[in-house]
Amino acid sequence: MISGLEIMTQRICIIPGDGVGKEVIPAVVEVLGSLGLGLEFVEADAGFEYFQRSGDAIPDKTLAEIESAGVAMFGATSSPTTGAAPGYRSPILAMRKAFDLYANLRPVQSLPGPFSRPNVDLLIVRENTEGMYAGRERREGDTAIAERVITASGSERIARAAFENARKRKTPTPALPRLERRRTGEGVTVTVVHKANVLKVTDGLFREQCLKVAAEFPEIAVKEMLVDAMAMRLVRDPENFDVIVTTNLFGDILSDEASALIGGLGVAPSANVGERVAVFEPVHGSAPDIAGQGIANPIGAILSAAMLLDHIGQGDAAQRVRRAVDVTVKDGVVTKDLGGRARTGEVTRTVIGNL
Ligand code: NAI
Ligand code: MG
Repeated sequence: MISGLEIMTQRICIIPGDGVGKEVIPAVVEVLGSLGLGLEFVEADAGFEYFQRSGDAIPDKTLAEIESAGVAMFGATSSPTTGAAPGYRSPILAMRKAFDLYANLRPVQSLPGPFSRPNVDLLIVRENTEGMYAGRERREGDTAIAERVITASGSERIARAAFENARKRKTPTPALPRLERRRTGEGVTVTVVHKANVLKVTDGLFREQCLKVAAEFPEIAVKEMLVDAMAMRLVRDPENFDVIVTTNLFGDILSDEASALIGGLGVAPSANVGERVAVFEPVHGSAPDIAGQGIANPIGAILSAAMLLDHIGQGDAAQRVRRAVDVTVKDGVVTKDLGGRARTGEVTRTVIGNL
């Protein structure tokens, strides 16, 4: 059949954004392009610089490109200080809202360098659409109030995302994390992180929904931990944790904390996943202090691209990329933030050479 000969080309929407986004995203395109997968890249605009030119932070055309490709690789954008730019909306928040990207996946895995703790291999699954970031803040006289919105359905779907990811980590597939999983065979644990002792109603509901979903995954162990204790344990014994599921603000804070275990923001990848669309981005921002100098660390962005490859069913390619990053780091070809002297381009070329 003729239709059997048709090859589906995977299109990826590429959004560099501002600052170091414009340095690390071209690095990602080079790495992805050199895999020989026939990927097609479509570049799209968003960010503060684009806003200053056009009056729009993220045009509908970009949203349409993301929707049609189904996957996007996003760098970072700058957010002006409050009040400086009326009409500006954060592009990543706009994308999360437009496509209901409710699951923020932030893996934290040891790298083979002196800047990283060994044996860390955890995945923070952060609820991305509600909680403290529901956008319900107001001022009443001398009182300022933020509403913390937790829904049963929002909690249930993020819990399900966490347990499904835990199941994937348990199954020995090419999509497994690159470390030898020390706990393979012993099972994977999901830790539900909350503050239900104080936030009895909101986190009470979150906790209840997580434990309800846990019952559908009898092969995955479940634990719970208060967020303050979790913050301490992440520093003390991060190697004892696996999948962590939590609400929006707690996940934001814990994931930045966790990135410090493995070398900091420059190496931390993430995915924003919804039902139809997924947007992959390094955890870091536009880093105006180092932008334009050619010294931005591309590893966070490159590892985000590996997550994209897993997402589109290219698990083997994803593992090649992760191994190439490991070899590059092991050989000491790293940027200044990791104590090295290599520039963005040299790290990128070395990763490609190691593929
Ligand atoms: P940032 O992540 O841009 O920078 C924090 C520190 O990490 C800086 O010292 C920076 O030099 C360093 N850093 C970040 N990425 C690096 C990389 N790839 N290689 C080496 N070092 C790196 O956070 P900051 O300074 O709080 O925010 C700067 C701007 O970025 C702000 O306008 C902020 O709103 C925006 N931002 C955007 C995000 C996004 O687009 N998703 C996320 C976080 C911040
Ligand atoms: Mg953050």
